[in-house]
Amino acid sequence: MNIHAFAPASRPGLETAHFLRDSDLSDHELRSLLEVAYQIKIEPESCRDSLKHRAIVLMFEKPSLRTRMTFELAAAQLGALAVFQDHRDGRIGEREPARDIARNLDRWFDAIVARTYSHRTLEQLAQWSSVPVINALSESYHPCQALADFLTIRERFGSFEDLRIAYVGDGNNVAHSLMYCAAQLGVSISVCGPPGFGPREADLAVATAVAEAHGSTVDVVADIREAVRDAAAVYTDVWTSMGWEDETQQRRIAFDAYQINDAVMTLAREDAIFMHCLPALRGQEVSDAVIESDRSVVFDQAENRLHAHKALLMMMVNGA
Ligand code: CP
Ligand code: NVA
Repeated sequence: MNIHAFAPASRPGLETAHFLRDSDLSDHELRSLLEVAYQIKIEPESCRDSLKHRAIVLMFEKPSLRTRMTFELAAAQLGALAVFQDHRDGRIGEREPARDIARNLDRWFDAIVARTYSHRTLEQLAQWSSVPVINALSESYHPCQALADFLTIRERFGSFEDLRIAYVGDGNNVAHSLMYCAAQLGVSISVCGPPGFGPREADLAVATAVAEAHGSTVDVVADIREAVRDAAAVYTDVWTSMGWEDETQQRRIAFDAYQINDAVMTLAREDAIFMHCLPALRGQEVSDAVIESDRSVVFDQAENRLHAHKALLMMMVNGA
């Protein structure tokens, strides 16, 4: 793969003070970050100790495997310390306000990586923190996931040209981030799910406008067959996100016709890949056969979280 195809040239640092949503990165920064992540992947030693003596904190209100592990490992491999605050310690703002938490943490740490229920909590941390706040998943966006996803797509297809992703499922955090990143990279995306579970109108409008400016499209499609037909990548996520467990039964019924199985994958491009942010519920949003098939890149996505997080930390903390 041509690593220089990600961007005309990499540039140091990022303009944004915080990474709360995908659109905080410019097009150029997004491509540069993906390039840096890929360079780190093929030459892990190149970044060793680049954040020596730095420290980051992980404040998680919800469980995590991939995000937590890859940020902790990324920090360690960059020579930095990561301190994790467990979600069982409660929601941010419960014991003391986010504005006070931020002004404690920024005295000790070089970045705050936070997984929150409310996106507003992240905005409050960012408003009061003098060090970068990174969104490790909120109800609205999952921008760190999208970085790994597009690194994976780029590796698989060699370019972002002439690609369309079909996202089938709940139109929330993962879908929003995919829409924004796809639009910035000129990749088309069709979002498909049952009525009432589509992406937020405001995010859809912005992503559509960004896509138009990049010669691609963002479509909301009701028919799963239409969404998946000739897609290069078929992406799904759990029907019930963390925090929505009260709706589990209702959602199982609403999403019943939206499972990605062999019959659905047959409609996609012959070389189409299957993507999922994980964790997955086999037998619900995806069949066991599809997630275990040769088309599945879910563990590449998981691996790429590590490389993407290293690039993100280096560019946000160090301006490397
Ligand atoms: N995909 C993802 O964010 O996984 P975790 O919830 O395990 O971090
Ligand atoms: N949409 C899922 C993503 C988990 C990584 C959730 O919010 O639970």
